[in-house]
Amino acid sequence: MNVYSIKTSQCSHLPLRLALILFVTIFGAYTCYFYLNQITIGEKIMLFGTKIAEMYCEIHDIPPEEIPHVHFPLPKTYRRDECSCTPVRFFAIVSMQRSGSGWFETLLNSHPNISSHGEIFSVTNRRNNISTIIKTLDKLYSLDWLSSAAKNECVAAVGFKWMLNQGIMDHHREILDYFNLNHVSLIFLFRRNILRRLVSLLANNYDRYAKQLNGTHKSHVHSREEAEVLAQFKPTINAQVLLTNFSFVEQTMADSLRFFDSTRHIVLYYEDIVNNQSALSHVQEFLGVPVKRLVSRQVKIHTRPLPDQVTNWDEIFKTLNGTQYEHFLQHSDYSR
Ligand SMILES: *[C@@H]1O[C@H](CO)[C@@H](O)[C@H](O)[C@H]1NC(C)=O
Ligand SMILES: *[C@@H]1O[C@H](CO)[C@@H](O)[C@H](O)[C@H]1NC(C)=O
Ligand SMILES: *[C@@H]1O[C@H](CO)[C@@H](O)[C@H](O)[C@H]1NC(C)=O
Ligand SMILES: *[C@@H]1O[C@H](CO)[C@@H](O)[C@H](O)[C@H]1NC(C)=O
Ligand SMILES: *[C@@H]1O[C@H](CO)[C@@H](O)[C@H](O)[C@H]1NC(C)=O
Ligand SMILES: *[C@@H]1O[C@H](CO)[C@@H](O)[C@H](O)[C@H]1NC(C)=O
Repeated sequence: MNVYSIKTSQCSHLPLRLALILFVTIFGAYTCYFYLNQITIGEKIMLFGTKIAEMYCEIHDIPPEEIPHVHFPLPKTYRRDECSCTPVRFFAIVSMQRSGSGWFETLLNSHPNISSHGEIFSVTNRRNNISTIIKTLDKLYSLDWLSSAAKNECVAAVGFKWMLNQGIMDHHREILDYFNLNHVSLIFLFRRNILRRLVSLLANNYDRYAKQLNGTHKSHVHSREEAEVLAQFKPTINAQVLLTNFSFVEQTMADSLRFFDSTRHIVLYYEDIVNNQSALSHVQEFLGVPVKRLVSRQVKIHTRPLPDQVTNWDEIFKTLNGTQYEHFLQHSDYSR
């Protein structure tokens, strides 16, 4: 029975009803807000399978809409001790090789409350099938993942870097469910100028075999001298497949955004982080950590104008001139 269906004869009560409804709504919203900020999270402390104590964490100063995104993980391998009530947010950096994600990750890891564990799915047996993927994610988000990026037990944001060619696209449906169920926030990090990305990719592939730095292959460097050595190599780009290659890369980026559109996410471009200091503050706010100045020891490898970095530049110029990719020819990473 619908209460509103019998109201016709009682129109005179309408203002009173409206006032009542308004009151109930406001009171309800207030109670809900109050309740949410007082929420307690039970933590069972077990010893030999017996519950010996129970602990509760209170949530303070977190806006109600963000509460689903905070977690109180219980690592299997250690106790979080005085930080067991420090809320933790889960994130993943979704990117492609040679898009600045290595540099971006060192910036994040310079923050005392962020742990980003690198390309955990570069190891193929972790991405054999969806079960191994979920097992790996569970271990990471329960704070049991040990790497050089692992902070103390006071970590407030934990994540890793997932390249689009490391299983995330193949199993996107199940992974989307996992992300939404566990409230994992995504940071998409792409490079606008995919021609520069290709130069970096080819140079890095070359160094994999050439090992130009005293016989070791390096994807990232920490000094200008090392960068100079690696930048000496000028790749020849296959002009025949260049346009197909570009449209494939752009399509892959667009697909990933479409697949994971329903997650909480932000989209960042490498060029914007290079040019805009506030981009990094925005990321820290998104991760719910106090905003700090982030630093990295990494040095950019390819800093020269593009024509000096490609052997068959004239051919590449002709191939891209007049196409939708023309702007890549002029564009510089640094606006300065
Ligand atoms: C960040 O880490 C520091 C040092 O471990 C800790 O004292 C602080 O409470 C943490 N802050 C947050 C917001 O988690
Ligand atoms: C997934 O891969 C693991 C490790 O290779 C294997 O043990 C397991 O049986 C596989 N599971 C499924 C459902 O295929
Ligand atoms: C290679 O090794 C030599 C001697 O060990 C050192 O002086 C030089 O700086 C190294 N070069 C690079 C590019 O690491
Ligand atoms: C694009 O070109 C790069 C470098 O030659 C190559 O590694 C990559 O596989 C190509 N991708 C496609 C989809 O053709
Ligand atoms: C810098 O980044 C911030 C946050 O991402 C954005 O709001 C702002 O418009 C950017 N400024 C410029 C000049 O691009
Ligand atoms: C680039 O294309 C324009 C017309 O679209 C043409 O006028 C110009 O000569 C081309 N540049 C080169 C270097 O081929």
